[in-house]
Amino acid sequence: MKKLKLFKTLFLFLILAGLLTACAYDSKNSHAYLPDAKTENALVYIEQCGACHAVPHPQRLSAAAWKDLVVVMDARREERDHEPLTEAQRNKLMAYLAEHAR
Ligand code: HEC
Repeated sequence: MKKLKLFKTLFLFLILAGLLTACAYDSKNSHAYLPDAKTENALVYIEQCGACHAVPHPQRLSAAAWKDLVVVMDARREERDHEPLTEAQRNKLMAYLAEHAR
């Protein structure tokens, strides 16, 4: 009987641990910390600027500073054999950054 109790406790523990990791995983992947995260421009930004590192919050820089930084990231793409941004992608993610910059 003691053994059964131990199994029950272990079972509950595993379920709890599973739930906790599921939540942690979800909050890391839903970019809820970004403003207007579900808009088309945001989705392009998330996809293109989250490919190599965590997606930076747009409030981190001014619109002018983002313009310069995206050029730096063009070089990072090239160094790492990533496809260059298309004009459409660039326009969308720049619009997103300009709108939400600090
Ligand atoms: C091909 C990989 C790659 C992609 C795609 C990429 N980055 Fe980066 N990014 C890097 C690397 C590598 C660094 C760290 C070295 C550096 O600062 O240049 C970095 C650093 C940064 C930093 C920190 C710079 C600092 O000085 O603190 C920011 C902010 C950033 N990236 C924003 C962006 C944005 C915005 C985009 C989308 C336009 C983007 N990244 C796309 C590779 C990438």
